[in-house]
Amino acid sequence: MGALHQAIAILGLLLPFLGLLVNGDDHKMELASCDIYNGRWVYDNSYPLYHSSQCHFIEMPFDCQRNGRPDDVYLRYRWKPFACDLPRFSAVDFLERFRNKKIVFVGDSMSLNQWQSLTCMLHSQSPHTGLVKEREEGLSKFTFLDYNVSIIMERNALLVEIAKKSKGDVLNLGSIADDDAQRWRESDVLVFNSWHWWNHHGRKKPWDFIMDGDKLRKDMNRLVAYWKALRTWARWVENNIDTAKTKIFFQGISPTHTDASSWGNYNAKNCSEEKLPLPASFHQKKPAAEVILERVIGITSKRVHLLNITRLSQLRKDAHPSVYGTTGHYGMDCSHWCLPGLPDTWNELLYAELIRN
Ligand SMILES: *[C@@H]1O[C@H](CO)[C@@H](O)[C@H](O)[C@H]1NC(C)=O
Ligand SMILES: *[C@@H]1O[C@H](CO)[C@@H](O)[C@H](O)[C@H]1NC(C)=O
Ligand SMILES: *[C@@H]1O[C@H](CO)[C@@H](O)[C@H](O)[C@H]1NC(C)=O
Repeated sequence: MGALHQAIAILGLLLPFLGLLVNGDDHKMELASCDIYNGRWVYDNSYPLYHSSQCHFIEMPFDCQRNGRPDDVYLRYRWKPFACDLPRFSAVDFLERFRNKKIVFVGDSMSLNQWQSLTCMLHSQSPHTGLVKEREEGLSKFTFLDYNVSIIMERNALLVEIAKKSKGDVLNLGSIADDDAQRWRESDVLVFNSWHWWNHHGRKKPWDFIMDGDKLRKDMNRLVAYWKALRTWARWVENNIDTAKTKIFFQGISPTHTDASSWGNYNAKNCSEEKLPLPASFHQKKPAAEVILERVIGITSKRVHLLNITRLSQLRKDAHPSVYGTTGHYGMDCSHWCLPGLPDTWNELLYAELIRN
Protein backbone atom coordinates (compact mmCIF):
# COMPACT_ATOMS: atom_id res chain seq x y z
CA MET A 1 0.00 0.00 0.00
CA GLY A 2 2.78 2.35 1.03
CA ALA A 3 4.60 1.82 -2.23
CA LEU A 4 1.43 2.30 -4.29
CA HIS A 5 0.64 5.56 -2.51
CA GLN A 6 4.14 6.72 -3.15
CA ALA A 7 3.91 5.79 -6.80
CA ILE A 8 0.60 7.66 -7.15
CA ALA A 9 2.03 10.68 -5.36
CA ILE A 10 5.06 10.74 -7.67
CA LEU A 11 2.86 10.31 -10.73
CA GLY A 12 0.70 13.17 -9.46
CA LEU A 13 3.78 15.38 -9.22
CA LEU A 14 4.97 14.41 -12.67
CA LEU A 15 1.67 14.70 -14.53
CA PRO A 16 1.68 18.48 -14.98
CA PHE A 17 5.16 18.25 -16.50
CA LEU A 18 4.17 15.40 -18.80
CA GLY A 19 1.17 17.49 -19.81
CA LEU A 20 3.43 20.43 -20.59
CA LEU A 21 5.68 18.31 -22.76
CA VAL A 22 2.77 16.92 -24.71
CA ASN A 23 1.15 20.32 -25.11
CA GLY A 24 4.45 21.85 -26.11
CA ASP A 25 4.79 19.37 -28.95
CA ASP A 26 1.17 19.72 -29.97
CA HIS A 27 1.58 23.42 -30.11
CA LYS A 28 4.53 23.19 -32.49
CA MET A 29 2.73 20.73 -34.75
CA GLU A 30 -0.28 22.93 -34.78
CA LEU A 31 1.67 26.07 -35.59
CA ALA A 32 3.45 24.40 -38.49
CA SER A 33 0.22 23.64 -40.33
CA CYS A 34 -2.02 26.36 -38.89
CA ASP A 35 -3.54 29.10 -41.05
CA ILE A 36 -2.48 31.87 -38.69
CA TYR A 37 -4.20 34.56 -40.77
CA ASN A 38 -7.66 33.04 -40.47
CA GLY A 39 -9.06 34.03 -37.09
CA ARG A 40 -10.65 36.76 -35.04
CA TRP A 41 -9.83 39.57 -32.64
CA VAL A 42 -10.35 38.70 -28.97
CA TYR A 43 -10.33 41.09 -26.03
CA ASP A 44 -7.31 40.39 -23.82
CA ASN A 45 -6.47 42.52 -20.81
CA SER A 46 -2.81 41.45 -20.84
CA TYR A 47 -2.34 43.55 -24.00
CA PRO A 48 -0.76 45.81 -25.25
CA LEU A 49 2.68 44.18 -25.32
CA TYR A 50 4.31 47.47 -24.22
CA HIS A 51 3.34 50.99 -23.29
CA SER A 52 4.22 54.16 -25.10
CA SER A 53 6.33 55.23 -22.09
CA GLN A 54 8.52 52.11 -22.47
CA CYS A 55 9.44 53.08 -26.01
CA HIS A 56 10.61 56.66 -26.13
CA PHE A 57 11.58 56.53 -29.81
CA ILE A 58 8.08 56.05 -31.26
CA GLU A 59 7.72 58.74 -33.90
CA MET A 60 5.06 61.31 -33.22
CA PRO A 61 2.66 60.31 -36.02
CA PHE A 62 2.26 56.83 -34.46
CA ASP A 63 2.34 57.80 -30.77
CA CYS A 64 -1.42 58.11 -30.28
CA GLN A 65 -1.40 57.81 -26.48
CA ARG A 66 1.18 60.56 -26.07
CA ASN A 67 -0.73 62.67 -28.59
CA GLY A 68 -3.76 62.49 -26.33
CA ARG A 69 -5.94 59.67 -27.64
CA PRO A 70 -8.33 59.16 -24.69
CA ASP A 71 -9.63 55.62 -25.33
CA ASP A 72 -7.48 52.51 -24.86
CA VAL A 73 -9.76 49.56 -25.61
CA TYR A 74 -8.21 49.37 -29.10
CA LEU A 75 -4.92 48.38 -27.40
CA ARG A 76 -6.39 45.26 -25.80
CA TYR A 77 -7.07 43.05 -28.76
CA ARG A 78 -5.11 39.92 -29.51
CA TRP A 79 -5.23 38.07 -32.83
CA LYS A 80 -6.55 34.53 -32.31
CA PRO A 81 -6.24 32.15 -35.28
CA PHE A 82 -9.19 29.72 -35.29
CA ALA A 83 -6.96 26.65 -35.52
CA CYS A 84 -4.14 27.46 -33.05
CA ASP A 85 -2.68 30.07 -30.73
CA LEU A 86 0.09 32.42 -31.79
CA PRO A 87 3.26 31.95 -29.74
CA ARG A 88 3.63 34.67 -27.11
CA PHE A 89 6.27 37.13 -28.31
CA SER A 90 9.59 36.79 -26.47
CA ALA A 91 12.26 39.40 -27.13
CA VAL A 92 15.02 37.26 -25.62
CA ASP A 93 14.08 34.28 -27.78
CA PHE A 94 13.87 36.51 -30.85
CA LEU A 95 17.27 38.09 -30.19
CA GLU A 96 18.87 34.69 -29.46
CA ARG A 97 17.55 33.26 -32.72
CA PHE A 98 18.92 36.17 -34.74
CA ARG A 99 22.26 36.64 -33.02
CA ASN A 100 24.69 38.29 -35.51
CA LYS A 101 21.91 38.72 -38.06
CA LYS A 102 20.34 41.56 -40.01
CA ILE A 103 16.59 41.97 -40.34
CA VAL A 104 15.61 44.57 -42.90
CA PHE A 105 12.28 46.21 -43.62
CA VAL A 106 12.18 47.68 -47.12
CA GLY A 107 9.33 49.89 -48.19
CA ASP A 108 7.25 52.95 -47.41
CA SER A 109 5.83 54.30 -44.14
CA MET A 110 3.88 51.05 -43.61
CA SER A 111 7.28 49.38 -43.25
CA LEU A 112 8.33 52.18 -40.91
CA ASN A 113 5.21 51.47 -38.85
CA GLN A 114 6.10 47.77 -38.55
CA TRP A 115 9.83 48.39 -38.02
CA GLN A 116 9.13 50.81 -35.15
CA SER A 117 6.73 48.33 -33.62
CA LEU A 118 9.33 45.54 -33.68
CA THR A 119 12.04 47.74 -32.16
CA CYS A 120 9.59 48.71 -29.38
CA MET A 121 8.61 45.08 -28.74
CA LEU A 122 12.28 44.11 -28.43
CA HIS A 123 13.40 47.13 -26.42
CA SER A 124 10.50 47.13 -23.93
CA GLN A 125 11.09 43.46 -23.04
CA SER A 126 14.87 43.76 -22.88
CA PRO A 127 15.49 47.35 -21.79
CA HIS A 128 18.98 46.57 -20.45
CA THR A 129 20.30 45.33 -23.76
CA GLY A 130 22.49 48.10 -25.16
CA LEU A 131 20.87 49.76 -28.12
CA VAL A 132 22.66 51.80 -30.78
CA LYS A 133 20.68 53.88 -33.25
CA GLU A 134 22.21 55.01 -36.50
CA ARG A 135 20.71 56.99 -39.30
CA GLU A 136 21.96 57.73 -42.77
CA GLU A 137 20.11 58.81 -45.86
CA GLY A 138 17.06 56.58 -46.26
CA LEU A 139 18.33 54.09 -43.68
CA SER A 140 17.60 53.72 -39.95
CA LYS A 141 19.42 51.01 -38.06
CA PHE A 142 18.89 49.80 -34.48
CA THR A 143 21.46 47.36 -33.15
CA PHE A 144 20.84 45.31 -29.99
CA LEU A 145 24.44 45.12 -28.84
CA ASP A 146 24.43 42.09 -26.50
CA TYR A 147 23.17 39.97 -29.38
CA ASN A 148 24.55 41.94 -32.34
CA VAL A 149 21.11 41.90 -33.96
CA SER A 150 20.35 44.76 -36.38
CA ILE A 151 16.81 45.78 -37.18
CA ILE A 152 16.94 48.05 -40.19
CA MET A 153 14.43 50.27 -41.95
CA GLU A 154 15.23 51.02 -45.56
CA ARG A 155 13.00 53.63 -47.10
CA ASN A 156 12.19 52.51 -50.64
CA ALA A 157 8.59 53.13 -51.62
CA LEU A 158 8.62 51.68 -55.16
CA LEU A 159 11.34 48.97 -54.98
CA VAL A 160 12.39 49.46 -58.63
CA GLU A 161 15.04 51.96 -59.73
CA ILE A 162 14.37 55.66 -59.99
CA ALA A 163 17.02 57.66 -61.88
CA LYS A 164 17.59 61.40 -61.84
CA LYS A 165 17.85 62.56 -65.46
CA SER A 166 18.03 66.06 -66.91
CA LYS A 167 14.43 65.79 -68.06
CA GLY A 168 13.26 64.67 -64.62
CA ASP A 169 13.00 61.56 -62.41
CA VAL A 170 12.58 58.39 -64.44
CA LEU A 171 11.05 55.34 -62.79
CA ASN A 172 12.35 52.20 -64.49
CA LEU A 173 9.87 49.32 -64.16
CA GLY A 174 12.49 46.88 -65.43
CA SER A 175 15.38 47.44 -63.05
CA ILE A 176 16.50 47.22 -59.41
CA ALA A 177 19.15 49.72 -58.28
CA ASP A 178 22.62 48.22 -57.73
CA ASP A 179 23.05 49.70 -54.24
CA ASP A 180 19.72 48.30 -53.12
CA ALA A 181 20.49 44.89 -54.59
CA GLN A 182 23.83 44.78 -52.79
CA ARG A 183 22.28 45.56 -49.39
CA TRP A 184 19.40 43.11 -49.88
CA ARG A 185 21.81 40.27 -50.70
CA GLU A 186 23.62 40.83 -47.40
CA SER A 187 20.49 40.55 -45.24
CA ASP A 188 19.21 37.55 -43.32
CA VAL A 189 15.52 38.45 -43.23
CA LEU A 190 13.89 40.87 -45.67
CA VAL A 191 10.36 42.17 -45.21
CA PHE A 192 9.28 44.09 -48.31
CA ASN A 193 6.30 46.32 -48.82
CA SER A 194 5.15 48.56 -51.64
CA TRP A 195 1.90 49.95 -52.97
CA HIS A 196 0.72 53.20 -51.47
CA TRP A 197 3.08 55.42 -53.50
CA TRP A 198 2.06 53.76 -56.76
CA ASN A 199 -1.32 55.30 -56.19
CA HIS A 200 -0.27 58.95 -55.80
CA HIS A 201 -1.27 61.51 -58.39
CA GLY A 202 -0.47 65.17 -58.96
CA ARG A 203 2.32 66.71 -56.92
CA LYS A 204 2.75 63.66 -54.67
CA LYS A 205 3.51 61.44 -57.68
CA PRO A 206 7.12 60.36 -57.03
CA TRP A 207 8.30 60.33 -60.71
CA ASP A 208 8.16 62.48 -63.84
CA PHE A 209 8.41 59.65 -66.38
CA ILE A 210 8.03 55.89 -66.41
CA MET A 211 10.39 53.65 -68.39
CA ASP A 212 8.21 50.71 -69.45
CA GLY A 213 10.31 48.32 -71.55
CA ASP A 214 11.76 50.58 -74.24
CA LYS A 215 8.95 53.15 -73.98
CA LEU A 216 9.23 56.33 -71.97
CA ARG A 217 5.76 57.25 -70.68
CA LYS A 218 4.37 60.28 -68.90
CA ASP A 219 2.00 58.03 -66.97
CA MET A 220 0.19 54.71 -67.24
CA ASN A 221 -2.33 52.49 -65.45
CA ARG A 222 -0.96 52.26 -61.93
CA LEU A 223 -1.98 48.65 -61.29
CA VAL A 224 -0.25 47.58 -64.50
CA ALA A 225 2.86 49.52 -63.47
CA TYR A 226 2.72 47.87 -60.02
CA TRP A 227 2.44 44.41 -61.61
CA LYS A 228 5.44 45.04 -63.87
CA ALA A 229 7.58 46.40 -61.03
CA LEU A 230 6.72 43.46 -58.78
CA ARG A 231 7.60 41.03 -61.57
CA THR A 232 10.99 42.76 -61.91
CA TRP A 233 11.47 42.48 -58.15
CA ALA A 234 10.44 38.79 -58.18
CA ARG A 235 12.88 37.98 -61.01
CA TRP A 236 15.60 39.69 -59.02
CA VAL A 237 14.78 37.49 -56.01
CA GLU A 238 14.82 34.38 -58.22
CA ASN A 239 18.26 35.22 -59.59
CA ASN A 240 19.92 36.61 -56.46
CA ILE A 241 18.55 35.16 -53.26
CA ASP A 242 19.39 31.86 -51.66
CA THR A 243 16.26 31.31 -49.56
CA ALA A 244 18.09 28.79 -47.36
CA LYS A 245 20.15 31.76 -46.17
CA THR A 246 17.83 34.75 -46.60
CA LYS A 247 14.15 34.60 -45.69
CA ILE A 248 11.91 36.78 -47.84
CA PHE A 249 8.60 38.21 -46.70
CA PHE A 250 6.18 40.56 -48.39
CA GLN A 251 3.82 42.56 -46.23
CA GLY A 252 0.27 42.30 -47.61
CA ILE A 253 -1.46 45.55 -48.57
CA SER A 254 -2.27 47.60 -45.49
CA PRO A 255 -5.89 48.75 -45.80
CA THR A 256 -7.11 52.30 -45.17
CA HIS A 257 -10.35 53.31 -43.43
CA THR A 258 -11.03 56.69 -44.97
CA ASP A 259 -14.70 56.13 -45.77
CA ALA A 260 -16.94 55.16 -42.84
CA SER A 261 -19.82 54.18 -45.12
CA SER A 262 -17.71 51.24 -46.35
CA TRP A 263 -18.21 49.54 -42.95
CA GLY A 264 -21.77 50.71 -42.60
CA ASN A 265 -21.31 53.76 -40.37
CA TYR A 266 -23.35 56.37 -42.24
CA ASN A 267 -23.16 58.88 -39.39
CA ALA A 268 -19.40 59.37 -39.72
CA LYS A 269 -17.11 60.34 -42.56
CA ASN A 270 -13.79 58.75 -41.64
CA CYS A 271 -12.16 56.59 -38.93
CA SER A 272 -12.16 59.25 -36.19
CA GLU A 273 -15.08 57.88 -34.18
CA GLU A 274 -14.08 54.22 -34.25
CA LYS A 275 -13.25 52.56 -30.95
CA LEU A 276 -13.94 48.87 -31.67
CA PRO A 277 -12.85 46.32 -34.29
CA LEU A 278 -15.26 44.78 -36.77
CA PRO A 279 -16.41 41.18 -36.22
CA ALA A 280 -14.59 38.38 -38.09
CA SER A 281 -17.69 37.78 -40.20
CA PHE A 282 -17.60 41.28 -41.68
CA HIS A 283 -16.78 41.16 -45.36
CA GLN A 284 -14.64 43.78 -47.08
CA LYS A 285 -13.42 43.53 -50.63
CA LYS A 286 -9.80 42.49 -51.20
CA PRO A 287 -7.87 45.52 -52.52
CA ALA A 288 -6.95 45.22 -56.23
CA ALA A 289 -3.26 45.70 -55.40
CA GLU A 290 -3.45 42.74 -53.00
CA VAL A 291 -4.82 40.54 -55.81
CA ILE A 292 -1.82 41.52 -57.94
CA LEU A 293 0.67 41.01 -55.13
CA GLU A 294 -0.68 37.53 -54.36
CA ARG A 295 -0.55 36.59 -58.05
CA VAL A 296 3.09 37.66 -58.36
CA ILE A 297 4.12 35.79 -55.21
CA GLY A 298 2.19 32.75 -56.48
CA ILE A 299 4.23 32.52 -59.69
CA THR A 300 7.62 33.31 -58.16
CA SER A 301 9.81 30.21 -58.17
CA LYS A 302 11.62 31.14 -54.94
CA ARG A 303 9.78 30.91 -51.62
CA VAL A 304 8.37 34.32 -50.72
CA HIS A 305 6.20 34.37 -47.59
CA LEU A 306 3.16 36.58 -47.78
CA LEU A 307 2.66 38.28 -44.43
CA ASN A 308 -1.06 38.13 -45.04
CA ILE A 309 -2.15 41.05 -42.88
CA THR A 310 -4.74 42.59 -45.21
CA ARG A 311 -7.88 40.84 -44.05
CA LEU A 312 -7.17 41.01 -40.31
CA SER A 313 -6.21 44.68 -40.61
CA GLN A 314 -9.39 45.49 -42.53
CA LEU A 315 -11.24 44.65 -39.32
CA ARG A 316 -9.26 47.27 -37.34
CA LYS A 317 -11.03 50.51 -38.26
CA ASP A 318 -10.37 51.51 -34.61
CA ALA A 319 -6.58 51.23 -34.76
CA HIS A 320 -5.61 54.29 -36.84
CA PRO A 321 -4.23 57.52 -35.36
CA SER A 322 -7.08 59.62 -36.88
CA VAL A 323 -6.54 63.07 -35.27
CA TYR A 324 -4.02 61.67 -32.74
CA GLY A 325 -1.21 61.42 -35.27
CA THR A 326 -0.21 64.90 -34.16
CA THR A 327 -0.74 67.09 -31.11
CA GLY A 328 -2.06 69.89 -33.30
CA HIS A 329 -5.54 70.21 -34.68
CA TYR A 330 -4.75 69.28 -38.25
CA GLY A 331 -4.63 66.00 -40.04
CA MET A 332 -6.77 62.90 -40.26
CA ASP A 333 -4.74 59.73 -40.57
CA CYS A 334 -6.84 56.66 -41.37
CA SER A 335 -3.93 54.91 -43.17
CA HIS A 336 -1.14 54.38 -40.63
CA TRP A 337 -1.57 52.64 -37.28
CA CYS A 338 -1.08 53.66 -33.65
CA LEU A 339 1.85 52.23 -31.66
CA PRO A 340 1.44 50.26 -29.55
CA GLY A 341 -1.23 48.73 -31.73
CA LEU A 342 -1.96 46.71 -34.83
CA PRO A 343 1.61 46.46 -36.26
CA ASP A 344 2.56 44.62 -33.03
CA THR A 345 0.26 41.86 -34.28
CA TRP A 346 1.96 41.93 -37.69
CA ASN A 347 5.21 41.28 -35.82
CA GLU A 348 3.68 38.49 -33.71
CA LEU A 349 2.74 36.89 -37.03
CA LEU A 350 6.23 37.50 -38.43
CA TYR A 351 7.66 35.89 -35.28
CA ALA A 352 5.37 32.87 -35.74
CA GLU A 353 6.48 32.57 -39.39
CA LEU A 354 10.15 32.81 -38.44
CA ILE A 355 9.76 30.13 -35.76
CA ARG A 356 7.99 27.70 -38.06
CA ASN A 357 10.10 28.23 -41.17
C1 LIG B 1 -5.12 35.70 -46.44
O1 LIG B 1 -5.94 35.51 -45.32
C2 LIG B 1 -7.31 35.62 -45.55
C3 LIG B 1 -8.04 35.48 -44.24
O2 LIG B 1 -7.84 34.22 -43.70
C4 LIG B 1 -7.75 34.58 -46.58
O3 LIG B 1 -9.10 34.77 -46.89
C5 LIG B 1 -6.91 34.71 -47.85
O4 LIG B 1 -7.21 33.69 -48.75
C6 LIG B 1 -5.43 34.65 -47.50
N1 LIG B 1 -4.64 34.90 -48.70
C7 LIG B 1 -3.72 34.05 -49.13
C8 LIG B 1 -3.00 34.40 -50.39
O5 LIG B 1 -3.44 33.03 -48.53
C1 LIG C 1 27.66 41.32 -36.09
O1 LIG C 1 26.73 40.95 -37.10
C2 LIG C 1 27.16 41.26 -38.42
C3 LIG C 1 26.03 40.86 -39.35
O2 LIG C 1 24.87 41.60 -39.08
C4 LIG C 1 28.43 40.51 -38.75
O3 LIG C 1 28.88 40.88 -40.04
C5 LIG C 1 29.49 40.84 -37.72
O4 LIG C 1 30.62 40.04 -37.96
C6 LIG C 1 28.96 40.56 -36.31
N1 LIG C 1 29.93 41.02 -35.33
C7 LIG C 1 30.47 40.19 -34.44
C8 LIG C 1 31.41 40.82 -33.47
O5 LIG C 1 30.20 39.00 -34.40
C1 LIG D 1 -13.90 63.14 -40.04
O1 LIG D 1 -15.20 62.74 -39.71
C2 LIG D 1 -15.87 63.56 -38.75
C3 LIG D 1 -17.24 62.96 -38.48
O2 LIG D 1 -17.18 61.56 -38.45
C4 LIG D 1 -16.01 64.95 -39.28
O3 LIG D 1 -16.59 65.79 -38.29
C5 LIG D 1 -14.64 65.50 -39.67
O4 LIG D 1 -14.79 66.75 -40.30
C6 LIG D 1 -13.95 64.55 -40.63
N1 LIG D 1 -12.61 65.05 -40.89
C7 LIG D 1 -12.02 64.98 -42.07
C8 LIG D 1 -10.69 65.61 -42.18
O5 LIG D 1 -12.54 64.43 -43.02
